[in-house]
Amino acid sequence: MPVLARLRDRLGDGALRGRRLAVVVHLEAKTACLVLALQEAGATVVAAGSNPLSTQDAVVAALAERGVEVHARHGVSQEEFTADLLRVAESGAELVIDDGLELTRRMAEHRPDLYAQLRGVSEETTTGVARLRALEAEGLLGFPAVAANDARCKHLFDNVYGTGQTTLTAILALTNVLAAGRGFCIVGYGWVGRGLAKAAHGLGGRITIVEIDPVRALTAHMDGHNVAPLARALEDADVVITATGLVEALDASSFAHLQDGVLLANAGHHDREIDVPALAAQADETIEARANVTTYVLGDRRVHVLAGGALVNIAGLDGNPIEIMDLSFSVQALSIHTLASGELPAGVNEFPAELDDLIARTKLETLGIELDEPTEVQERFRSAWMV
Ligand SMILES: NC(=O)c1ccc[n+]([C@@H]2O[C@H](COP(=O)([O-])OP(=O)(O)OC[C@H]3O[C@@H](n4cnc5c(N)ncnc54)[C@H](O)[C@@H]3O)[C@@H](O)[C@H]2O)c1
Repeated sequence: MPVLARLRDRLGDGALRGRRLAVVVHLEAKTACLVLALQEAGATVVAAGSNPLSTQDAVVAALAERGVEVHARHGVSQEEFTADLLRVAESGAELVIDDGLELTRRMAEHRPDLYAQLRGVSEETTTGVARLRALEAEGLLGFPAVAANDARCKHLFDNVYGTGQTTLTAILALTNVLAAGRGFCIVGYGWVGRGLAKAAHGLGGRITIVEIDPVRALTAHMDGHNVAPLARALEDADVVITATGLVEALDASSFAHLQDGVLLANAGHHDREIDVPALAAQADETIEARANVTTYVLGDRRVHVLAGGALVNIAGLDGNPIEIMDLSFSVQALSIHTLASGELPAGVNEFPAELDDLIARTKLETLGIELDEPTEVQERFRSAWMV
């Protein structure tokens, strides 16, 4: 992670020294790099995963060996997952790097005493930022938070290029099917949805987008994709991928429209975008067909669900590529450093634009790509109203 490495001096300037930090992000190798960088900057870090299906036990063990307190195990129940997160809360964490707001929202619900002691939260993903704004709207956000997901160096690359590529990679690796000529139905054309469409189209897939937002539906149309309502889109779909960030994008009523042999995968934060329990309730038989592929037999149709409906790129493979997470975690590291410095007011804050620029410039430097500067005339024109 060359960008994160080049931020080492700034991170180690003392703001993080002696601070108790919780990192609750999908526990795989790149997350471990972030944890170790924060530890090196002087923080005491307690870690947990943000989804039991994406936790890699080998990474947990490696972190524990390096003296990090970790509360996570692959595949535990929702109750055990919550218990682990509450152990993180009880460890006295004052600053949190969260994903989906999984720790913060549980603290608000179960441990308001500890929640009241939080000094800052930096949130990794779209769904978590929505939850932060919901807390703020209810007057429950008495500390500063940063919408790290909304940083340009995060969502413009991680959600689009990283998740687009790795979700497709995971679907193809888990099933060994050919993408070319297949019908892909993508539910949600946000940052993630457009990355998925780009990746599937690049592999020769036929794309249909389902949206509820008129501007995003129009964008999908102008990008050259078919746009259709869910029921119609499903009838022609060989692969359905959900990326809405909400729940029940594929609900109990949608399964009647699925073709025989369809693959269902989710890229969104929640395991609940595909209503897998409702599918199981409708099925005559359930077969564990191969690793991370569960087949539900509905009469004469077979429906294959990947990675149990959890985010398939992280629960089914290793998540986003290291080049992407170098950017995302540089955002997170600078975000938590800014929160530790006490520079931000209570409420949801944007990630500072100058830090976004710093990360992009550093990344360009590592790639050996040079930028031009505006001329004096251009600078004057930019700042004047009459030239
Ligand atoms: N798997 C990963 O590695 C990864 C990476 C980044 C983000 N995410 C998650 O992916 C999800 C999507 O993120 P995003 O940044 O694209 O969000 P976004 O808000 O930009 O896009 C979501 C889109 O879904 C649409 N939508 C909502 N409900 C719908 C429905 N019922 N039918 C059709 N469309 C619907 C919305 O109109 C919106 O355009 C979030 O949960 C986010 O946290 C996952």
